[in-house]
Amino acid sequence: MSDDSPAKPRGYSSDAQSQADPSIQGVKVSRRAFLQSSGVIAGTLVSGGLVAQSVTEGVQADTPAGSAASNGANSASAVRMSLRINGVDHEFNLEPRTTLLDTLRDSAALTGTKKGCDRGQCGACTVIVNGRRINACLTLAVMHQGDDIVTIEGIGTPDNLHPMQAAFIEEDGFQCGYCTPGQICSAVSLLSEIKRNEASAVTPDVRTQRVEFTADEIRERMSGNICRCGAYPNIVKAIQRVATNKTSNA
Ligand code: FES
Ligand code: FES
Repeated sequence: MSDDSPAKPRGYSSDAQSQADPSIQGVKVSRRAFLQSSGVIAGTLVSGGLVAQSVTEGVQADTPAGSAASNGANSASAVRMSLRINGVDHEFNLEPRTTLLDTLRDSAALTGTKKGCDRGQCGACTVIVNGRRINACLTLAVMHQGDDIVTIEGIGTPDNLHPMQAAFIEEDGFQCGYCTPGQICSAVSLLSEIKRNEASAVTPDVRTQRVEFTADEIRERMSGNICRCGAYPNIVKAIQRVATNKTSNA
């Protein structure tokens, strides 16, 4: 009697089916033999360096190299590029997928720029690129070949504070301080935006009047910088202090 039942996929064959199927009877493998042969294959890959090489490449791509002159990945896919950071030229060998944030922190050792969410939601990674503030976690370093980047380390120093840094201290514009580098970079950039008369969502009418340094303008323009400590009222006061030239260091 002929078997008219539909053919079953080979991958789902049970033991009984494989015994009945003469085409696969010759390749039946015991569980013990299978595990032994798998171990041999895995061992061969490791001793041959294939697994080790792929793991090492991943590590090298993200490992700080230490030198400001030449940092980053050594893998075959690394790209050589340069950035001007806080007035100093830096050269890097980077995996193309490396974010600007990781480059600043891991390769240039400028850890003042913070990583909060790593997805564009908190503003902790704000830096100023060619005069505009951006989230460094949302952009790849290779997109900024030759760009001029200012991080919190380039805004001021402990001995020579930027007026915005001085105002944050005078107005108590922080608690834990984790968001503060991003807040200050954003606030410094905000001053330039208002001076350039760039409108925001709350600007009444730029056709008839210049943009004012109002609390509403400041709150709107700083809305991309989250402070988990809730220092918002004092941050606004600090920015207003600089805008009205009241800082002791202004
Ligand atoms: S770390 Fe970049 S926005 Fe949060
Ligand atoms: S001061 Fe702590 S998150 Fe802003």
